Amino acid sequence: MNEIEEKIKTLRDELEQHNYNYYVLSSPTISDYDFDIKLKELQALEEAHPELADPASPTQRIGSDISREFVQIEHKYPMLSLGNTYSEEEVRDFYHRTMRSLHEPFEITGELKFDGTSISLLYEHGRLIRAITRGDGTRGDDVTANVKTIRSIPLKLRGSGYPDEFEIRGEILLPWAEFDRLNSEREEQEEPLFANPRNAASGTLKQLNPAIVASRKLDAYFYYLLGEDLPAQSHYENLCHARSWGFKIPGMIRKCHSLEEIFDYLSYWNIERKNLPVATDGVVLKVNSLLQQRNLGFTAKSPRWAIAYKFQAEQAATRLNSVSFQVGRTGAVTPVANLEPVLLSGTTVKRASLHNADIIEGLDLHTGDTVYVEKGGEIIPKITGVDKDARSTVMGNKVSFIKECPECGTPLIRPQGEAAHYCPNESGCPPQIKGRIEHFVTRRAMDINIGPETVEDLYEAGYIRNPADLYLLTETDLLRLERWAEKSARNLMDSLEQSKAVPFERVLYALGIRYVGETVAKRLAFAFQNITNLKQATLETLTEVDEIGGRIAQSILDYFNNEKNQVITARLEAYGLQMSMNETILANRSEKLKDLTIVISGTFLKHSRDEYKAMIEQHGGKNSGSVSGKTDYILAGENMGPAKLEKAAKLGVKIINEEEFLNMLSE
Ligand code: IVH
Repeated sequence: MNEIEEKIKTLRDELEQHNYNYYVLSSPTISDYDFDIKLKELQALEEAHPELADPASPTQRIGSDISREFVQIEHKYPMLSLGNTYSEEEVRDFYHRTMRSLHEPFEITGELKFDGTSISLLYEHGRLIRAITRGDGTRGDDVTANVKTIRSIPLKLRGSGYPDEFEIRGEILLPWAEFDRLNSEREEQEEPLFANPRNAASGTLKQLNPAIVASRKLDAYFYYLLGEDLPAQSHYENLCHARSWGFKIPGMIRKCHSLEEIFDYLSYWNIERKNLPVATDGVVLKVNSLLQQRNLGFTAKSPRWAIAYKFQAEQAATRLNSVSFQVGRTGAVTPVANLEPVLLSGTTVKRASLHNADIIEGLDLHTGDTVYVEKGGEIIPKITGVDKDARSTVMGNKVSFIKECPECGTPLIRPQGEAAHYCPNESGCPPQIKGRIEHFVTRRAMDINIGPETVEDLYEAGYIRNPADLYLLTETDLLRLERWAEKSARNLMDSLEQSKAVPFERVLYALGIRYVGETVAKRLAFAFQNITNLKQATLETLTEVDEIGGRIAQSILDYFNNEKNQVITARLEAYGLQMSMNETILANRSEKLKDLTIVISGTFLKHSRDEYKAMIEQHGGKNSGSVSGKTDYILAGENMGPAKLEKAAKLGVKIINEEEFLNMLSE
């Protein structure tokens, strides 16, 4: 081994050990910063020596941004489901049935049923070869590239004694903390929220872009080993071996020798599971001995040697006192049930979401009704039913959706095909005004150093009614308010001044035009270059821009047609905000790639993928993620995906390398 090889190997081993310490053992021994430095060092070495590439290198966990359609693959062993029950009676039946069938002593393992999305991993000679989703049980999607980004999954096994070939099955989970973080981020971006961590985990795993998957911090727990030559003759011991190879095997697994022990386990975890970092929805009971499992066999759908006991989603009955209506920053109106406080899953519940008018109608709600509240995997408790028998002869009033905005009195509208009602008074309705200013100041928008409470105070004091008003604030104004000292006032002034350098595309995003998120804002900025052009845009010129459809285009037109918005944007421009694209970027613009659609694939030596992407856009071309009949060129680096290569050959798409691409630009 030469010096470079040696260095690369040391770094890989060291980084993998740190991954294991952090993600499997939860006891890191290095700072994130030092870890990143080492990872960057390894990345640089690997880029300089592509011949030393290794699909199991820790750098492969970063997730490339090559999007790929998933290929379907047949499972070697079908992925069956489990018989489900909610009743202790059926657990008893399962136990006695097993006893009668086996005629000999047996052990039952109790383990938690994790509520995520199931995965099957294939390892050969200690290396992760493939990761397949459950699919229909017989065939699933090949999601290997995404699964590699999950740091607690070993790409290379530790220790020894693993079979040359085996499969291990488990659950991919999004921990509660990460779920909350993801949802608040989505709320800020006006993207639909995930209802529970399970949906979030399966949605993430099906992302076409592994870089997005990598950013979402999934975790994985394993519970089932399959293969021809497993190390032990019992489920429990096999899992212990798997733990020594580096897999995250939950520690809550117990061997039970009687029904009492099983019921103790069930009642213990029914409570204790609420303290776990991930969602669980029951307990799985399995016959421990593999020989006995084989004797018991399978029904058409599930093993006879296992059963899932599901925890009751906790329910409580309480009185509906009233329904109130909340207005969000987009004007959407949400009905909220105000309840007689009731204890549910350890917290006092006073309010529950009623979602929309159809839900209220479906429940036939009346004030004073006794309603059932449930807290399942969802964050906000929901009302699942009404106890109609509990209604007295004098019923309360039927709950109906309001006709006017509770904040400003404007008649509500319900757009065709939508479930939600909206208040259309965008510029006069207080929560909408405050919400828009809160969005304007966020870090990814103008990055102005104030939070929602300050926005509230400034609004109440009458200083701000729209984002432009922020730039009229003076230190004297602020010092007149409670809780403001010279230092904090100075800070806000500085922060406002600095925001004037924020580039045009972020200013566009900050305006809070409905459906204009960060990506759309960037595309608009590139396509129209300044606000004057954008204001003159038509439905046609807008929809010509890549990925801008009729709905977004109409929303942009509506925004600029509104006189109040015209005044606001004119004022922002007058105060010195960036209302056109950066000069140097513009100066280097050309139309050399006009009307050309280019797909980037593989890894490059001279520039990063993002730089190539920016170059394509800067020269009027379109960057696309997948090869199709519309593709003009594939800009191919090292290790271009075989699927893309095949498709390109079939469609006769021209493949060019870095030099050829750069020559096209310098011609
Ligand atoms: S064992 C043949 N153990 O529940 C038995 N499954 O309804 C294979 N699950 O698809 C499954 N936690 O996604 C097993 N500790 C656990 C589990 C578990 C969650 C999921 C899994 C499976 C489904 C069965």
